[in-house]
Formats: sequence, C-alpha cells, structure tokens
Amino acid sequence: MPEQTAWERSGGLASMSLYERIRTQSAEVGIMGLGYVGLTEAIEFARSGFRVTGFDVDVNRIQHIRAGRSYLVDISDGDLGGTVESGKLRATDDFSLLKEMDVVLIAVPTPLSKTKAPDLSYIINAVEAIRPRLREGQLIILESTTYPGTTTEVVLPALEAAGLKAGSDFHLCFSPERINPGDKEYSPGRIPRIVGGVTRACADVAAELYGWVSPKVVVVSSPQAAEMVKLLENTFRAVNIGLVNEVALMCRSLGVDVWEIIDAAATKPFGFMPFYPGPGLGGHCIPIDPLYLSWKARVHGFEPRFIDLATQVNNAMPRFVVSILVEVLNQRERSLKGSMILLLGASYKRDVNDARESPALEIISELWKRGAKVSYHDPYVPTLEVEGRSIHSQVLDDRILKAADCVLIVTDHGCIDYSRVAELAATVIDTRNATRSVRQYGEKVVKL
Ligand SMILES: NC(=O)c1ccc[n+]([C@@H]2O[C@H](COP(=O)([O-])OP(=O)(O)OC[C@H]3O[C@@H](n4cnc5c(N)ncnc54)[C@H](O)[C@@H]3O)[C@@H](O)[C@H]2O)c1
Repeated sequence: MPEQTAWERSGGLASMSLYERIRTQSAEVGIMGLGYVGLTEAIEFARSGFRVTGFDVDVNRIQHIRAGRSYLVDISDGDLGGTVESGKLRATDDFSLLKEMDVVLIAVPTPLSKTKAPDLSYIINAVEAIRPRLREGQLIILESTTYPGTTTEVVLPALEAAGLKAGSDFHLCFSPERINPGDKEYSPGRIPRIVGGVTRACADVAAELYGWVSPKVVVVSSPQAAEMVKLLENTFRAVNIGLVNEVALMCRSLGVDVWEIIDAAATKPFGFMPFYPGPGLGGHCIPIDPLYLSWKARVHGFEPRFIDLATQVNNAMPRFVVSILVEVLNQRERSLKGSMILLLGASYKRDVNDARESPALEIISELWKRGAKVSYHDPYVPTLEVEGRSIHSQVLDDRILKAADCVLIVTDHGCIDYSRVAELAATVIDTRNATRSVRQYGEKVVKL
C-alpha cells in the first residue's frame, strides 16, 4: 500500500480547516510582491475582511505602505493609510512570517532576459523564500504572468523539495491577475478570476478565496490551462494592436484617416472590436507576455508566426513616429538635429504612472542619437531614466510650448488641455488622437 501523506493521515482536516478559515475570513493572506498587482490585491483582500501581510524585498515600498503613502495612481493615500490603520494590512520584508500565512499569493515581476527569453528569477527567489516555511494545509498561488508549465514544472518541484506533496499536503494553483491599471470602469473587484489547480481540491479552495474579491471564479482544468488563458488574452491584444498599427501605416500611404475608419467600423454591433494604433507598446504585460508564449512554443517545436509578426510591427512604431517627425520638420526646412522636441506623456498609457517599456524611452533615445534637444512633460512621471540618464518632467507653460519646434503627443493623459497645446505649438504630432475634439488649429496637427 502506498504510504499515506500527512494530509491523508489527518483525514483531510488540514484542507477542510483552510476552506473553513477562508469561508469565515479568518485565514491569514500573504502576498509576495507589492507592485501594481500585489498592492492592489492586498487592498482588495483587506477591504473584503481578510488580514493581509504584504511581503516585498523593496524596503522603500514597505516604508511607503507603512506611512500610508501610495505609489500607485489607482490607490489613494487615504485608502492605503485607512487600510493600514484598520490593522487589516501590514507590509514587511521579514519572510519568516510566511510560516504564519494560510495563503501565499506570488505577484512578482516576470520580465524578459537580454536575449528576450523568460526571466523566472523573481518567481524562483520567491519560491525559495517560501520553501523553508512551507507547512501542511497552506495554499500557494502563482499569479505572475508566465508561460504554460511554470507552476507544475518550476514551482511545484521547488516547493516539494521541502518534503511536502502538492495536492495532498499543500495546495498549489495558478491564477492570472487581470487588473487594468487606470481603468475606471473595470476596477479589480469587477473582474472575473481564472483558477487552475494541481488538483480539483486545490482549485476549489482557491475559488473560495477569490470569491471574496471577484464577481465570478472560473475553474479550468489545470495550472497550465490558467497560464495559457492569460497569454491568450494578452497575445490577442498584442496581435490586434499590431494589425491596427499596420492599418495605420497603410492608411497614411493611402491618404485616409485611420481614426475615422476605426470609429466608423466600431459602430458595427457584432464581429468587430476596436483597437487603436499608437507610438508602440509599453508596460509590463503586452510587449512581454506574448514572448513568453512564443518562447515556450518554440521549446515544443512550434513556430508562432502571428506573435512574431505583431512584435515586428509594434516594435517598429517608435522609429516610425520619429520618421514622421523628420518629415514634418523637413517640410518646414528644418533638420531634426538641433530642433527642440517636446514630448507630451512618458508613461506607456493614459492616466497611469508606469513608464516601464514605454515607447517614450525609445523615441527619446532615437531623438538624442540624431542630435535633437528633447524635453518632456508628464504629470504622472516626474523623472524618467533613459540610457542611464535621469531627465525630469517640465512644467507645461506657454514658454515651453512656444519654444518647441514640434510637440509630440506620446501619451494622451486626460488632464492636458490639447486645444491650448495646438494653439501655442508650432506643430503637433499626435500619435493617440488626443486632439480629436480640437476644432481650431487643425492645420498644425499631424496625426499618426
Ligand atoms: N502591471 C499590470 O498591469 C499587470 C496586470 C496583470 C498581470 N501582471 C503581472 O503581474 C506580475 C507582477 O507585475 P507588477 O506590475 O505588479 O510588477 P511590479 O514590478 O510593479 O511589482 C513587483 C514587486 O515584487 C517585488 N519583488 C521582487 N522579488 C520579490 C521577492 N522575491 N519577494 C517579494 N517581493 C518581490 C518587487 O520589489 C516589486 O515591488 C507580473 O508577472 C506581471 O506580468 C501585471
């Protein structure tokens, strides 16, 4: 007879009591990684009634949380401070406290390496911090976006090296985080969750947990399936943005306005979903996640053509924007070298403070290479690191607008008066259709 596991010997009580603790919200919830995903989720679970402990290696972030100073645009100081003061949320770099947690969610970064391969080092470090503190009955959930197989091929063996078995001694799941920073309509509490467990019992206990912070929990057959769901979602976005970016280039050469075309096509009530062109992809998801999928597909001998094509088109956009700038200055008998270029917006998308992978970075570095004088304004991004240099957001006053040879709208933040920009600037290149409602000065605005 096979040897009984500790969980079986206890008659499944460890699992039942965890289920019960989740049902009564007496379970201790730990979250590793207090970034866009982890801190948002920490607030959600704490607000719903759980006691939450956030773990991070970044001491600066821990101090911010303890002082009630938020570093995310979607979380106000008041909300963060109130949650900390209520005693429902604490932040720490003391990983020995992981032992006290009933549930541990892992929300650490999943970037690409220099060779564009998945860099799982943050996940591996987080799992190594959990392993010596792993105990029976705990629920561990990986939430970081990653390739299918990470949970069972990387996380599971690393945790089982502690001598406990996933699915019987402890629960192990993958559940992708689907938050959309800056989205006022779909706040985290309105987004359904996907869960895949090493066993059905693992998924069920995770579903009970997420039921507290989500309107719907969809259980899929395995962690691989849940990992793949997230990559399908983000690859769908990257490929459609690639398509619409190509259509934008096509429309330019055909002399039609791509924004008018998309708005008109979007009136079709079925079979069409609008995506919009722009100066390039950014953020920690859309430029990266499809490459996790294509990497894994290649390991299995499959050549993913759509992802590669979309990546090529999307990656070419920042340089294409610079080529429009050269064209516009040329018409005014100016060279890019020596011209003053003012970028409006540095974050990768509207109304967020995240400049990771932002197309602004490549555009600025390309402009520097060609001898332009570059400044930028972004109320959400006070400082920007480009090629090892720190540059600072400038005040958007009349002087700076008038002094620029060209204003380049990279991000369409809602708080900027684009009519004033068009009035005072010599020329505007608008990569986001931010000037759509500017009636006057249309002759000064060149759209993507
Ligand atoms: N940002 C988004 O909109 C978004 C949306 C959905 C999914 N995701 C995915 O969620 C994951 C996290 O993304 P993010 O944007 O929150 O990243 P982030 O960089 O904002 O935050 C990650 C945090 O993890 C911390 N960290 C690193 N190693 C750690 C360790 N060993 N232990 C504890 N903390 C550690 C970092 O210091 C940082 O504070 C990624 O896989 C990302 O693809 C992000």
